Amino acid sequence: MKIDFLKNKIISIIDTSSSKENTLQSICDFLKQEIDYYDWVGFYFKNGDKEELKLAEFAGEPTEHTIIPFGKGICGQVAVSNKNFVVQDITEQDNYISCGWKIKSEIVIPIFKNNENIGQIDIDSHTKNPFTKSDEELLEYVCEQVTKIV
Ligand code: SME
Repeated sequence: MKIDFLKNKIISIIDTSSSKENTLQSICDFLKQEIDYYDWVGFYFKNGDKEELKLAEFAGEPTEHTIIPFGKGICGQVAVSNKNFVVQDITEQDNYISCGWKIKSEIVIPIFKNNENIGQIDIDSHTKNPFTKSDEELLEYVCEQVTKIV
């Protein structure tokens, strides 16, 4: 993975986009386009005072899972654990919300603002076992940068 190139491009997207929505959309589009095993890239954020996540910008096929209760699925678990969740093979997970038969793996990284877990970036892949420590490093970096604009 060309991690320095990817990090630099994320910075330039954040510096040049006109609005929060445009920035998040551009980040999703960019990551999906650049990394061949990123087949769906999206941001979920805490939905106001509710104990649920709401889908924001994404790239890839539309999903019916626009609201996810805390604790449900990989995303809902990250909302309460505050930890990265790397799923190399989704068939090994019981608490999983399927977004289609093509999805084989998933990675979810929380976004913190003022030490509070306010949302996450979620990647689905059609490939099994695709993720390495570099994905976590890159996506943690993306989440840190996103904190500046949300
Ligand atoms: N698979 C997720 C649901 C969201 S979709 O991947 C877009 C989960 O188990 O939380």
